[in-house]
Amino acid sequence: MSHETTRVAIIGAGPAGLLLSWALRDSGIDSIVVENRSQDYVLARIRAGVLEQGSVETLTRLGLGARIRSEGMVHNGIYLQAAGERHNVNFHDLIGRTVTVYGQQEVVKDLVAAHSDAGSTIYYEAADVAVHDLESARPRVTFGHAGEPHEITADFIVGADGFHGVCRASIPDRDITLYAHSYPFAWLGILADVAPSTDELIYSLHDDGFAMHSMRSHTVSRLYLQVDPAEDIANWSDDRIWDALQTRLGVPGWTLHEGTITEKSITPMRSFVASRLDYHSLFLVGDAGHIVPPTGAKGLNSAISDVTMLAAGLIDHYAGDDATLGRYGEAALARQWKVQQFSQWMTELLHRHPGDLQSNEFDYRSQLGRIDYVTHSLHAQRMLAEQYTGFPL
Ligand code: FAD
Ligand code: DHB
Repeated sequence: MSHETTRVAIIGAGPAGLLLSWALRDSGIDSIVVENRSQDYVLARIRAGVLEQGSVETLTRLGLGARIRSEGMVHNGIYLQAAGERHNVNFHDLIGRTVTVYGQQEVVKDLVAAHSDAGSTIYYEAADVAVHDLESARPRVTFGHAGEPHEITADFIVGADGFHGVCRASIPDRDITLYAHSYPFAWLGILADVAPSTDELIYSLHDDGFAMHSMRSHTVSRLYLQVDPAEDIANWSDDRIWDALQTRLGVPGWTLHEGTITEKSITPMRSFVASRLDYHSLFLVGDAGHIVPPTGAKGLNSAISDVTMLAAGLIDHYAGDDATLGRYGEAALARQWKVQQFSQWMTELLHRHPGDLQSNEFDYRSQLGRIDYVTHSLHAQRMLAEQYTGFPL
């Protein structure tokens, strides 16, 4: 059995775990990251695409801003579309803030490269990861690696192991409540080798359902379609996908350019928040503690804001002040509930509800009224702008 000691043992090498380890290293606090997948798998995972201004500031402050500056695309706003009309909402004009389109995959790539240069300890392909003695001041992590049993003793364990991880599940049921909401729709997402047909993201509500045009670079487009959660991706040929996108995104005088689809997948939508993000020596960050539906692009940004708050708490703790760390759970949850209501609002604003025709028609017309209101009221647009570009920490 190999045995190591560190200050912070981090479970999960997604963006939250890698960023926390990097932020701690920046302040001279050692940590070890334990991940159950391979590094190649972690690097290949395609997910979110939009960074709030605060996320860009955090990554830049931690020395991770070079490629965001050279390759990220700063967007002043978004387009909201309904009933065949497209409206621009310019966040920069409204409140002086912007967002940056830069894939989660690129954030992870930057973090993996930085850790690799710095010689950080990250165990990939760890088997049977388990956490122990969480109620004590010397919690432990055990796992298998390259056929050998490993044990890490730490001051703290951080669960950055996503929705399906082991950390949240290690808190006794009597000590945690899970709040959840599911939606009767899912997103079919594609990556395509074609220059984006738009300068800013288009969120569109159409009779057939929601569609979105996002991007990853000047040569790669990312597009989404609302589908039934039970839908089988095998039913969606490339031609069927492009036809649906043409229909749902089309407006007179605009052309959606098609290209080779290089990736397609279906993602379910759910909202979920754990009642606590701290339990004795354990802290939860990112998807381990909460999930949002993707509309509004808050998943990755919430993980980054949790990490920013927790890193500040741990840094203060090792400087002899426990106040910030003591407030972490409550402060992160307070921010998260604001994120939750926004993601739910964006999702319900833009998706067509299945159901019987009459109630469906009522909901739909009411939704069109709401979009009409948002696109014509400066107050409503400021509200959208403030929330989309990011809540303060
Ligand atoms: P994760 O990225 O999930 O990382 C958790 C890490 O822990 C993973 O590397 C995992 O392999 C590892 N792990 C899990 N279990 C264990 C274990 N037992 N032991 C060790 N390691 C473990 N958000 C958006 O804003 N826009 C989007 O378009 C979008 N699309 C998404 C598509 C999908 C399919 C999913 C699942 C999420 C999507 N999200 C999106 C959400 C966003 O990607 C997440 O909020 C973000 O990845 C959270 O980062 P994280 O580090 O907390 O969790
Ligand atoms: C992307 C995803 C989102 O959920 C969103 O609201 C905007 C963009 C994307 O993957 O590019």
